[in-house]
Amino acid sequence: MAWFRKRSDLPQDPSTDEEPDYIEQVAEQELVAEPEPEPEPEQEERLEEEVPARELDAGPILVVNQVERFFPVGNEQLHVLKGIQMEVQPGQLVMLRGRSGSGKTTLLNILGGLDQPSSGEVYFRGNPFHTWDDDKRTLARRMDIGFIFQAFALMPLLSAWENVELSLRMANVPKAQWKSRVEHCLELVGLAKRMHHRPFELSGGEQQRVAIAKAIAHRPRLLLADEPTAELDSQMGAQVMAVFKNIIRTEQVSICMTTHDPTILEVADHVYEMVDGKFV
Ligand SMILES: Nc1ncnc2c1ncn2[C@@H]1O[C@H](COP(=O)(O)OP(=O)(O)OP(=O)(O)O)[C@@H](O)[C@H]1O
Ligand SMILES: [Mg+2]
Repeated sequence: MAWFRKRSDLPQDPSTDEEPDYIEQVAEQELVAEPEPEPEPEQEERLEEEVPARELDAGPILVVNQVERFFPVGNEQLHVLKGIQMEVQPGQLVMLRGRSGSGKTTLLNILGGLDQPSSGEVYFRGNPFHTWDDDKRTLARRMDIGFIFQAFALMPLLSAWENVELSLRMANVPKAQWKSRVEHCLELVGLAKRMHHRPFELSGGEQQRVAIAKAIAHRPRLLLADEPTAELDSQMGAQVMAVFKNIIRTEQVSICMTTHDPTILEVADHVYEMVDGKFV
């Protein structure tokens, strides 16, 4: 059983644009064969063994063209991003580096469709994100983008298991696949033994690893991580980077992250250096 997204499992896009919607496009790209019927409950064990490799996208995951971002502050316009030009290719680990206030988080938010540029273009898997409304971007994000924030962003009352399961629910992954997928992701980050702990019963590093499991559970094409290692000691930071390298290989994901740490920058495929809203 492949890790299919079935059209019938997906929320309906309310937009009535003539442009094909995101679900149609994902369907075209990914559903080459009719999905198999949902397994009976006793087949769940078998699912656990079979999370098949999938193809990397042929084209770039992200293309960013002349992106500017202004924020209104009082009567002024604060110019935060000043003509950003970048690309993320499938399977790449791309890092953004720059001083505090240089615009890294502002850019990550735009890359993930949480925010819109004031001008310029952002193409996510060939789709013009900058022209899409909030609903459409939210749908694409739930399906194909994972976020890791510096401050973990876990639901405090839910266990590690339930936190990871939540992103499968949000992406409308069929329920029969939750168990094997949650286990797989928690094992990937080395937390199989802590599945039923709630965040306050976990160390900072463990919480960050739950956040990674949660961010990759729905098999996003793009993982965006804002200073994912900043709160961790160097050994834990190296462990998180090892998980990132591993999931790039095994989950066919691309990663764009911010960091200040020079040892971490060494493992990047590409580093964009940001100074005052521009790449240098
Ligand atoms: N919503 C907003 N309204 C007004 N100004 C903002 C807003 N968001 C960010 N800024 C400003 O934009 C600049 C860049 O902020 P941003 O958070 O992108 O920096 P950063 O590079 O992520 O910094 P850090 O390394 O400290 O996280 C800052 O000067 C900040 O004050
Ligand atoms: Mg920031």
